[in-house]
Amino acid sequence: MTFKVKDLGLADAGKLKIEWATTRMPVLGRLRERYAKEKPLKDIRVSGCLHITKETAVLVQALSAVGAETAWSGCNPLSTQDDVAAALAKEGVNVYGWRELSVEDYYWCIDQTIEFKPHLTLDDGADLTLRLHEKGATSLKDVIGGTEETTTGVHRLRAMHESGALRCPIIAVNDAETKWDFDNVWGTGQSSIDGILRATNILIAGKIFVVAGFGHCGRGVAMRATGLGAHTVICEVDPLKALKAVMEGFRVMPMKEAAKIGDIFITATGCKNVITKEHMELMKDGAVLSNTGHFNVEVSVEDLERIAVKKREIRPNNVEYTLRDGRRLFLLAEGRLVNLAAAEGHPSEIMDMSFANQFLSLIYLAEHGRAMKPGVYNVSKEQDQEVAIIKLETIGTKIDTLTPEQEKYLTSFKEGT
Ligand code: ADE
Repeated sequence: MTFKVKDLGLADAGKLKIEWATTRMPVLGRLRERYAKEKPLKDIRVSGCLHITKETAVLVQALSAVGAETAWSGCNPLSTQDDVAAALAKEGVNVYGWRELSVEDYYWCIDQTIEFKPHLTLDDGADLTLRLHEKGATSLKDVIGGTEETTTGVHRLRAMHESGALRCPIIAVNDAETKWDFDNVWGTGQSSIDGILRATNILIAGKIFVVAGFGHCGRGVAMRATGLGAHTVICEVDPLKALKAVMEGFRVMPMKEAAKIGDIFITATGCKNVITKEHMELMKDGAVLSNTGHFNVEVSVEDLERIAVKKREIRPNNVEYTLRDGRRLFLLAEGRLVNLAAAEGHPSEIMDMSFANQFLSLIYLAEHGRAMKPGVYNVSKEQDQEVAIIKLETIGTKIDTLTPEQEKYLTSFKEGT
């Protein structure tokens, strides 16, 4: 066992956080219990590149309980919770990561998990999978397959497969309905607002809140901002998504127009250069800029650095940039995911379903992965249903069941007007 974390002395605080998260993650708890005797991941090495949070720690413990040996790195330089990493290290987990590591150290941490010679990988953003492939055939020798947690990662892996470069099967956990329809919408919605509030403590009510991107994440943030009293504006490039935003009651306009009126900006597009110098030049004094997309490419921090004449950290995760004409723009969390860098990521109750899907997908790959061709696979309908059923049970919600007559009606075409 090896590790590299910031400070092992933080382990007790991390342990308490993990215990708290465990009480909120009953689906994963039940699955862990179900497989604890059988140990379907016995003799399986899992390497993961995931935000090192209290929820991730609950997943790590569940995987260990069903037999896996694991090694972990963080998937973002600002998202590692140092106390949680310390608690994991103290428990004997191979964990490499600390908050505010350099890009060089970031890849050093990933490399340690590649040297662990994984059978299975668990990725969030596809950096681990890509790095494994770049290192060539010997690194991939033992790999049965892997999973991917996020939209950006799934896009990258699909592109990789289309170019013929992907050499193992990957299950797109992101695309499970019990993942994206909850984590991306409600998780990102709440945690992004949480990040903005922790970094600024500003009032949202009455503000013009600009959301770039009306995918599942952008929609989640837009709904939560509106719920807090903001006048929410959406910027989109996709006509269908833009139309949906209009029908849901949001104002839709190009970023060049929104730039002039917005008080708070957040990007959730998965694309680069969404807010650049040309927009910053138009913004009001005091505008707050943030991003909740996976990579720090959506707000051009380079442009902001270039046009600013002065810069100072005014609060944790909040840097004030003063422009030539005296206007001040405030950049949160260096343009990295504001929900994980300035807050604690999605709430445990949401990660419960996402990580239940990760857990079941890894067990599936251990059983079936060797017979699967390279490619990006969806989670099965059965798994999605199972996670939803357990979640409903754990929150005490009962639902109706179809009668045999209704089932027959739904599967036949004969009954009409
Ligand atoms: N992604 C978003 N929120 C997260 C969390 N709490 N833990 C791990 N990954 C996350």
